[in-house]
Amino acid sequence: MDSRIPICKPWIGEKEKQYVQECIESSWISSKGRFISKFEQKVSDFIGAKYCSSTSNGTTALHLALLAIGIKKGDEVITTNFTYVASTNSILITGATPVFCEIRESDLNIDSSLIEKLVTKKTKAILVTNVYGYMVDLVKIKNICKKHNLYLIEDAAESFGASLGKDMSGSYSDISTFSFFGNKTITTGEGGMVICKQKKHFEKIKQLKNQGNSLSQTYFHDILGYNYRMTNIQAAIGCAQIDNIKEILERKSIVYHKYEKLLSNKVKFLNKLKGSTPSYWMVPVIFDKVEQKRETENILNKNNIETRPFFTPIDLLPFYENSKCVVAKSIYRKGLLLPSFPSLRESEIEKICSLIIGN
Ligand SMILES: Cc1ncc(COP(=O)(O)O)c(C=O)c1O
Repeated sequence: MDSRIPICKPWIGEKEKQYVQECIESSWISSKGRFISKFEQKVSDFIGAKYCSSTSNGTTALHLALLAIGIKKGDEVITTNFTYVASTNSILITGATPVFCEIRESDLNIDSSLIEKLVTKKTKAILVTNVYGYMVDLVKIKNICKKHNLYLIEDAAESFGASLGKDMSGSYSDISTFSFFGNKTITTGEGGMVICKQKKHFEKIKQLKNQGNSLSQTYFHDILGYNYRMTNIQAAIGCAQIDNIKEILERKSIVYHKYEKLLSNKVKFLNKLKGSTPSYWMVPVIFDKVEQKRETENILNKNNIETRPFFTPIDLLPFYENSKCVVAKSIYRKGLLLPSFPSLRESEIEKICSLIIGN
């Protein structure tokens, strides 16, 4: 038996196997088949959004989202420097320029109070990430968008199942994206989804992800497109996964609160935005000193417990320009993500916490 405690582990049961087997036995293994529209419908029902289009992964979902709203070379997109690299890369790939906004220390999310001064004539959109499943203050940012005629794009890769007020993550912004990578709240192996408010964006995405094929004539390609489609096998896994979403979210919330109870005297936890419920995707904790974090990382690793460092701020990566944002740079070396998955046992959490406290 593997005694290693991984950082993440998907919650996979018999239904996933049964649905995948159905794909194989019926030969519907590529990007046609009954599970694709079924999965899109299930996501649509769960988050309460009309236009959901599945994609091959979360990165292609982001690329499609930006293309659908017309982001191109010469445009500026205001975004955070503390996110997964795919988020910001999607801006670069279109030829547009990411403009980094400072983050807040309390939740590591973009600081909405500092966005407006970054708006220029070239700004076309604001791309936010609900970092580690904690909701950004979308309402304030949408008001800025309305005032300056900008699009709000929500990278909700880590916040599937989170909510802000009555709105589920992914349902509020002009265009939002999910990832269903193996470490996400629900998985399709690799996979993603774009959620659009407007039908015209949804239709553009359907076309772009399918080699630019006309929506009314097969083998006629009226725009340059991509193959960014989800397969029936991916969607089959997704259909089984989403049926368990309530239990997955409940279990992850229990895991998080157990850590919080045992560790709140030792490390800092993030503050959730008022009126929001995070997805509790992972458990980010912040140590007072970098050395403490390093020692804890080593001790957990020696005890076969996997952890993950915080993101390196995007503007420190070699192919990005450094920015004046300082918060992420002062925190990221002190941050650690702890194992969090639905089947993580209470005794395992206690073991992890006692190693952290004993250090
Ligand atoms: C915030 C964020 N954005 C984008 C992505 C990209 O998703 P994918 O790995 O499915 O391409 C991820 C997932 O790793 C993510 O965490």
